[in-house]
Amino acid sequence: MILRDMTEADLDAVLRIEREVHAHPWTLGNFSDALRSKYECKVCEHEGQMLGYAVMMLAVDEAELLDIAIAAQHQRRGWGRKLLDEMMVLARRRNMQRLVLEVRASNAVAIDLYRKAGFADIGLRREYYPAENGREDAILMGRGL
Ligand SMILES: CC(C)(COP(=O)(O)OP(=O)(O)OC[C@H]1O[C@@H](n2cnc3c(N)ncnc32)[C@H](O)[C@@H]1OP(=O)(O)O)[C@@H](O)C(=O)NCCC(=O)NCCS
Repeated sequence: MILRDMTEADLDAVLRIEREVHAHPWTLGNFSDALRSKYECKVCEHEGQMLGYAVMMLAVDEAELLDIAIAAQHQRRGWGRKLLDEMMVLARRRNMQRLVLEVRASNAVAIDLYRKAGFADIGLRREYYPAENGREDAILMGRGL
């Protein structure tokens, strides 16, 4: 798997994946803002194909994973875990002490991935996300690096 910086030229492909895998996808503006803000925006590829991407914000000594996705046809082959591991390596190299994230309470797949990667629940934001029928809780998770 190759991990490289995301650029504006990737955003069509990134948005295609984002809209395919997220019920409430980020917009083009969200990704452009992330690039402009110099967040760690990475694309992962294998044999010339974009598998997915991740966006992480660094703040003092704590990193926050803002988005991570693997294209539907490439899921369940270990790429998501590899990408998450690579983002942790990157955060550690930038001297971050902790990685935190927020996940929808209904996103059992992602929660399972994070638990297996050593993340623990550190909080709950009630009715944080807009959802199909009203609002949905966010689970805050984190782990030391
Ligand atoms: C979450 C996501 C990135 C995982 O990517 P992936 O490449 O499919 O994950 P992996 O193959 O590396 O699987 C790692 C672990 O995730 C969990 N997992 C992945 N797919 C799963 C599924 N369909 N059902 C249950 N658990 C699943 C398992 O714990 C799995 O470990 P295992 O293979 O030992 O069972 C991917 O499902 C995705 O893009 N989802 C939509 C976007 C999203 O929800 N992002 C997280 C927002 S916080």
